[in-house]
Amino acid sequence: MEKLGMIENLQASYQGKRIFLTGHTGFKGSWMLQMLKELGAVVKGYSLAPDQDPSLFDLIQGEALCESVIADIRDRERLKKELVDFQPDFVFHMAAQALVIDSYREPVETYETNVLGTVNLLDAVRHLEKPCNVVVITTDKVYENKEVMRPYLESDELGGYDPYSNSKACAELATRSYRLSFFHPDQYTDHQKWVATVRSGNVIGGGDWSANRIVPDLARALRAGEPLQVRNPNAVRPWQHVLEPIGGYLLLGHYMATEGKAYADAFNFGPVEEDALTVGDLVKIALEAWGSGSFETPALKNQPHEAGLLMLDITKADKMLQWQPKFRSREAIRTTIEWYKEFEADPIATTRKQIRDYFGFS
Ligand SMILES: NC(=O)c1ccc[n+]([C@@H]2O[C@H](COP(=O)([O-])OP(=O)(O)OC[C@H]3O[C@@H](n4cnc5c(N)ncnc54)[C@H](O)[C@@H]3O)[C@@H](O)[C@H]2O)c1
Repeated sequence: MEKLGMIENLQASYQGKRIFLTGHTGFKGSWMLQMLKELGAVVKGYSLAPDQDPSLFDLIQGEALCESVIADIRDRERLKKELVDFQPDFVFHMAAQALVIDSYREPVETYETNVLGTVNLLDAVRHLEKPCNVVVITTDKVYENKEVMRPYLESDELGGYDPYSNSKACAELATRSYRLSFFHPDQYTDHQKWVATVRSGNVIGGGDWSANRIVPDLARALRAGEPLQVRNPNAVRPWQHVLEPIGGYLLLGHYMATEGKAYADAFNFGPVEEDALTVGDLVKIALEAWGSGSFETPALKNQPHEAGLLMLDITKADKMLQWQPKFRSREAIRTTIEWYKEFEADPIATTRKQIRDYFGFS
């Protein structure tokens, strides 16, 4: 039998299927929402209202792409009702307080949203009396960062220094407990749920307007014609386009639905090792793609702790899902800058085109 490609597998698994997506108003969630629509899925989103202006969600008219519920993940009863009423085939859980810097300012809220929010979500899934595949999105920051120059494996120790990273490691542990206690893979016929976690690193892509992230800062500076302030030009970071992990999460959902047990587990989705570049290099490639602009390095003191380079070992995703990054870092940066250059004329067309080009829709 001829082996299907990635896009054919995704279409086969998601067309006409019901997807409950938390965090659908966020940066990654909006790309996921648009992609799910391209695949012909029926989506219900559950998140707070977008808090960026302009938000990618509003730019792509996300309200029209799904049944959009604006509510708090900490509201357990509401979440349960919305999820159970919808009877999803898949759940992708992205809702989170997603910024390290905010987690230093609001640690308790970060733990409430990221840990209890995940527990609330998994508990709601317990009340679902049908087969369902659940993907909980965490981060590469869940690993205890030993500042070693070796990529981290899914079996490595969890930890996390700042409240954001640590809350996500806690979300991993809570998911593990729910999997073992209520959705044990050996008892699938009783509960009919496969539950996985996914860990990916910082992503870049059009439509991110978060404060204190390098690409949104860069986009704002370029659009305003002002020099960009670069805090750590020599810091080496892995750069990955947002569509890379989104493809990985969807592929994992596909394999859980079709193959089951072996896939109800943790998976890393990161760039290849050679794609780690300094912040300064990223800025130079971006300025080249934009065609103008400059940057400055301000003197800073009393910065909160920032973890050093952490790379992910992606052998497992490669072997089990046949997932590999499609873009090298230069292409990821260029594609991102192109979005910021082009979106104003037609944000929906710009976003859809990037998705269709990346996944190779026919
Ligand atoms: N962007 C990255 O580089 C990156 C890297 C690794 C992991 N992640 C993870 O991916 C997911 C999405 O990240 P993002 O960059 O799109 O973040 P984002 O801040 O753009 O979006 C967060 C989403 O979560 C929702 N949310 C936050 N608090 C909520 C609450 N109390 N109740 C309901 N909804 C709530 C927001 O409304 C929004 O829809 C997060 O789980 C994040 O930790 C992101």
